[in-house]
Amino acid sequence: MEPTRTVSIIGTGSYVPEKVLTNQDLAKIVDTSDEWIHSRTGMRERHIAAADQATSDLGTEAAKAALADAGIDAEEIDLLFVATLSPDMFFPSTACFVQDKIGAKNAFCYDLGAACSGFLYSLETAKNQIACGAAKTALVIGAEKMSTFIDWEDRSTCILFGDGAGAAVIQAGGEGRGIMQAAMGSDGSLANLLWTPGGGSRNPISHEMIDQRQHYLKMQGREVFKHAVVRMAEAVNQALEKNNLRADEIKCFIPHQANIRIIDAIVKRLGIAGRVYTNVEKYANTSSAALAIAMDEAAKDGTIQQGDLVALTVFGGGFTWGANVLEWSKS
Ligand code: UT7
Repeated sequence: MEPTRTVSIIGTGSYVPEKVLTNQDLAKIVDTSDEWIHSRTGMRERHIAAADQATSDLGTEAAKAALADAGIDAEEIDLLFVATLSPDMFFPSTACFVQDKIGAKNAFCYDLGAACSGFLYSLETAKNQIACGAAKTALVIGAEKMSTFIDWEDRSTCILFGDGAGAAVIQAGGEGRGIMQAAMGSDGSLANLLWTPGGGSRNPISHEMIDQRQHYLKMQGREVFKHAVVRMAEAVNQALEKNNLRADEIKCFIPHQANIRIIDAIVKRLGIAGRVYTNVEKYANTSSAALAIAMDEAAKDGTIQQGDLVALTVFGGGFTWGANVLEWSKS
């Protein structure tokens, strides 16, 4: 295959499980209220997967929708990523489970771990593999069953997350500039502000570890909040600069959906009021799925249209962050 420069999104899809958990429902489980949750986060409800639904099942539904939207067959996919922090199992990868469920038998498949930033990291990685000629058509999925890994006795975290999945099919070519240059970053020195400390090789599964609830997500919310605002605003500016664009040329900004106050703070820093897509009210924070779901919804409801410049930005555990700009070439 010849190396190519332009790589574009040709289809998107998303899926959230049926069950809705409202703030009022949460107030029956932990000491909280709809007023506290909505005023501090902008969230009203989130979707929670059924007991027999794993992350790959959510990813599969989003993948099928993206393939249908792109109008291509699963066998045309030759690269398949799942970005997730809630895999079906440690191994094999959730991507391999999705591959089998959708029949993408010509794809090579792996998971990508960048916590809430995973979808943008996957999009960037897949774009580069296509641009250098290593793959032709990629299916990039962000999928999470967060409800398995959060501590339903910890009101500071359990109210924040939801389950869901989003996906995009990307291919060489397309009108316009497609997926442009990204600005990405990580800072492992701050890992302990947002992590799941137990269950891996550092702190293996044991009765003691489980009694200490170390297998659940832990977060220093205030610290994470501050870094999220600074890093996402910075990354957007860097991505704009790399692509010789100004903020006023961007039709729609789609940030990670973690907290409406984080989004508002970014809007203020960048001066982009009225051009930001949010759905955190309906789904809460679905980690690596959040950006993918928001992008799919923005495309389907007509917020973004062919020829529009769209900026994406993410932040998550690691810390990891990034931003990208794309010219929407799908009609
Ligand atoms: O996707 C990865 C990125 N994740 C994020 O970006 C999340 C970033 N952080 C946040 O969104 C916010 O920090 C939170 C929503 C998690 C918390 O909001 P906050 O305004 O930073 O509140 P806080 O943690 O400083 O807590 C304020 C008070 C505390 O009580 P005291 O110490 O002031 O008496 C908490 O105990 O609110 C209390 N609190 C709650 N009260 C009712 C914490 N959680 C709850 C709750 N309901 N669910």
